[in-house]
Amino acid sequence: MARLLVTGGAGFIGSNFVHHALDHTDHHITVLDKLTYAGNTASLDGLPESRFRFVRGDIADAALVDSLFAESDAVVHYAAESHNDNSLDDPRPFLDTNIIGTYTLLEAARRHGTRLHHISTDEVYGDLELDDPARFTESTPYNPSSPYSSTKAGSDLLVRAWVRSFGVAATISNCSNNYGPYQHVEKFIPRQITNVLRGIRPKLYGAGENVRDWIHADDHSAAVLTILEKGVIGETYLIGADGEENNKAVVELILTLMGQPADAYDHVTDRTGHDLRYAIDSTKLRTELGWTPIYQDFPAGLAATIEWYRENEAWWAPAKDATEAFYASKGQ
Ligand code: NAD
Ligand code: TYD
Repeated sequence: MARLLVTGGAGFIGSNFVHHALDHTDHHITVLDKLTYAGNTASLDGLPESRFRFVRGDIADAALVDSLFAESDAVVHYAAESHNDNSLDDPRPFLDTNIIGTYTLLEAARRHGTRLHHISTDEVYGDLELDDPARFTESTPYNPSSPYSSTKAGSDLLVRAWVRSFGVAATISNCSNNYGPYQHVEKFIPRQITNVLRGIRPKLYGAGENVRDWIHADDHSAAVLTILEKGVIGETYLIGADGEENNKAVVELILTLMGQPADAYDHVTDRTGHDLRYAIDSTKLRTELGWTPIYQDFPAGLAATIEWYRENEAWWAPAKDATEAFYASKGQ
């Protein structure tokens, strides 16, 4: 049994990890989360009180972070500003949380000698051409495009430097696009599902040829537990489930699964600097640490996700109108 501190545990992937870790281990978990617009304590409802505690606070609050590290065996760091479109609108919170917040955690890890796992994204590598046979690996050079991905790249580089210069016991993982329950309606898949549930047509940026490499959030959680247990300090692991799909195909699949005509969507203004394609080669994680994804059937995983949004309107409805108003103001 270990005492885990999970930053950003009220967000999409963090809350999925908390559920997964409490189900599959005997760890005790403390979540530290600021509850920005993206945090939702309802994502943590029903967890066992004897093994779970929630603390509201900022990862850039050094005194709070220090006191929580003092009572933790390991830290899993999910907290971030995570949405590219928001980063194009107002980059500043991305610098504060992704850079200064991560720095604050690293300094606490250094003082307390605490094991830290840093969660990052494949977007630090920039993008690939549609016909490029290559996929991202741990040795692909960093080449981020947006304020979001550049601040995540900066946070990764801070972790690497604190490992080398100060001996901090950290690992990093860079994962591809996640889908599953508890994802904010600003993101691509939940936005389109909840649009259809509301009678609004799905919105595809540009021609919809951009490719994302989809992985179920539960597979991501299992990979992170594997790295916590068996990962080599100082190493980076790429997490992906061979799930490349273009956006147009995903929208058509959502519409079909929801009983609508496959072409009942709108093309809207493209994202500035929109990355064309992400693709992950996760050979290192699979061969060195023995992880394998379970959700190999994307249409089945998507159908289950659609069902979750259908059954949990009370979870997503409060954020829907403001999210759509933001997009409408940008012609998206
Ligand atoms: P999210 O936006 O759903 O959740 C982020 C959480 O962090 C929220 O609960 C928010 O309240 C909290 N938070 C934000 N700033 C904070 C601060 N200063 N202090 C404490 N808490 C703060 O994000 P997500 O999609 O769950 O992403 C989680 C992590 O996974 C991020 O680091 C992201 O870069 C990474 N990631 C995401 C994806 C994806 O597909 N969504 C893919 C790969 C990696
Ligand atoms: P998103 O979920 O924002 O993730 P990321 O930018 O981190 O990949 O977007 C996924 C893809 O979907 C991306 O290519 C942008 C596109 N997209 C749309 O076509 N329409 C939308 O309404 C949104 C939010 C995204």
